[in-house]
Amino acid sequence: MSATIVGWGMAVPDQIWTNAHLESMVDTTDAWILSRTGIRQRRIAADGDTTFSLGHAAANRALARARLSAADVDMVIVATLTPETPMPATANLIQDAIGARSAGAFDLNAACAGFTYGLEIGRALIDAGTAQTVLLIGSETMSRVVDWTDRSTCVLFGDGAGAVVLQGSASGGIRGNSLGSDGSGAPLLHIPAGGSKQPASMDTVRDRLHLLSMNGRAVYKFAVKATVRAAAVAMARAGWQPTDLDLFIPHQANLRIIDAVANELRLPEERVIVNADVYGNTSSASIPIALCEALDQGRVSPGDRLVLVGFGAGLSWAAVAVEWTAPVDSTPSEVGAAVDRQSAPARRAP
Ligand code: UT7
Repeated sequence: MSATIVGWGMAVPDQIWTNAHLESMVDTTDAWILSRTGIRQRRIAADGDTTFSLGHAAANRALARARLSAADVDMVIVATLTPETPMPATANLIQDAIGARSAGAFDLNAACAGFTYGLEIGRALIDAGTAQTVLLIGSETMSRVVDWTDRSTCVLFGDGAGAVVLQGSASGGIRGNSLGSDGSGAPLLHIPAGGSKQPASMDTVRDRLHLLSMNGRAVYKFAVKATVRAAAVAMARAGWQPTDLDLFIPHQANLRIIDAVANELRLPEERVIVNADVYGNTSSASIPIALCEALDQGRVSPGDRLVLVGFGAGLSWAAVAVEWTAPVDSTPSEVGAAVDRQSAPARRAP
């Protein structure tokens, strides 16, 4: 028994911050951001938007698409590094809000690899008979942990959520995986304070230690290597060659990373999903949002072979090979999703 995706949905905040907007906040330029990352704009949570509210909206859309009710859900998993509160888990809040009375719920923190980690965990729960229906959500409000005075990181991130519903499948679905960690790289991308090592204090707040800090160059090098390796292992476990792949859905951190990976795997542009240009890096939400957009654009059909790969803080990575099984209709994954492709038409970083 494997597991397959039977429903999907996404939710992003209405508020759009362009690179020009960031020029008014920190010492940066649209040209720098575009050439180094390919990002043109990102969605930013308004006061009322939270990791819970975005994740809840995405979860409801995924359940509606799956034509299932909350009563059918056995497990709610929320992949996030920006939970609603440190305790309880955001998954508990979403489980309650959707009315999934007989479901278990927990959060999973594998940073930007959280959603793909969650796909494999959901598959394993279904394979073990622990759950029949798993609701997996990747939801982030990165704008709440980004240091808006640090130009080297604040231009990269955005907010949003994506969700999928997993159920058992006799054929197709999740066919291969590769999950990994290299904790020696923990200091390369972290939020230093707010945990047991440095609990919140006046000093930690003053020193901005509750905010994200990153060694961009080191993470870049890791990202390319880890993504290529994880994708190759997941494909090998599925019995596929890169030439068998119909669609590659990488974590949307940086177009240069995506292009370097696609080049190494010899994947043509039309088989690689890119939407970092309009959403920036939404961490664990980036892959489900990209999946929803690919489905909405008619780029996925039953029988297609997909590889999804996440990488990030930990350092962590996770790749999953999926043979798509669900029928795809024309209902959008987000009602009224206003993806501003007219002002952001280019796929590639110049
Ligand atoms: O999902 C989490 C995983 N995270 C990632 O995947 C991020 C991986 N890393 C990256 O994507 C890239 O390293 C960055 C986009 C973060 C940075 O690009 P880079 O080509 O590695 O630039 P850099 O850090 O080497 O900085 C080059 C220059 C520096 O100036 P000097 O020292 O050469 O004078 C920076 O101070 O660019 C400067 N710089 C900026 N300039 C204008 C850094 N940030 C900015 C900025 N605007 N926003």
